[in-house]
Amino acid sequence: MKIFLDTASIDSIKKFNDMGVVDGITTNPTLISKEKGHPEDIMREIVKIVKGPVNLEVVGIKTEEMVEEGLRLKRFGDNVVVKVPMTMEGLKAVKKLSEDKIKTNVTLIFSSNQALLAAKAGASYVSPFIGRLDDGGQEGMTVIKEIVQIFNNYDFQTEVLVASVRHPIHVIEAGKIGAHIVTLPPDILGKMLTHPLTDKGLSLFLSDWEKVKKEHKYTI
Ligand code: G3P
Repeated sequence: MKIFLDTASIDSIKKFNDMGVVDGITTNPTLISKEKGHPEDIMREIVKIVKGPVNLEVVGIKTEEMVEEGLRLKRFGDNVVVKVPMTMEGLKAVKKLSEDKIKTNVTLIFSSNQALLAAKAGASYVSPFIGRLDDGGQEGMTVIKEIVQIFNNYDFQTEVLVASVRHPIHVIEAGKIGAHIVTLPPDILGKMLTHPLTDKGLSLFLSDWEKVKKEHKYTI
């Protein structure tokens, strides 16, 4: 199971990248709007820091605008994946970009039918937003289950990238279903990392070791 970070924060990316658990990055216009600095500098820097796929989103509405923007974003680095919204114009852009061997991620997916169409258009990734479905009283994870099953049934190569993740249990559920990727806000990755019993256990080990050092005049 791959883990992407869902952020445009250079500090967060640097903080977690060295741990060896971050396989890629997803950004969107909202995430970039939260950061200081020129958007293009931020995007170029992320592409430099992270070896895996870096998903950068187009803001054009028309197919031609999205394709042009996608080609420009792709020049930031070989690892750039062009994120395109789930619209008819967007899927036409996906078709064109994938014919040019440019990887795409269709975002703002809220149903398995949308995911099926995105995969057929040639998307490398589909991004269903499960947290926003949960917010509206619909079980987001049901959509993930359906998409994974449909893609498996027909051997689609498109990867299911679970987005709008709100808590660590979402990650476990996505893993049990067999979704390829989860993209996580940095605070959720932080929550996955820690457990109060780990902290308690470590502090006991360290204080017991202090006793050993004292008793044996041991310095390590
Ligand atoms: O990857 C999509 C994600 O950023 C949306 O998350 O929490 O705004 O629904 P959220």
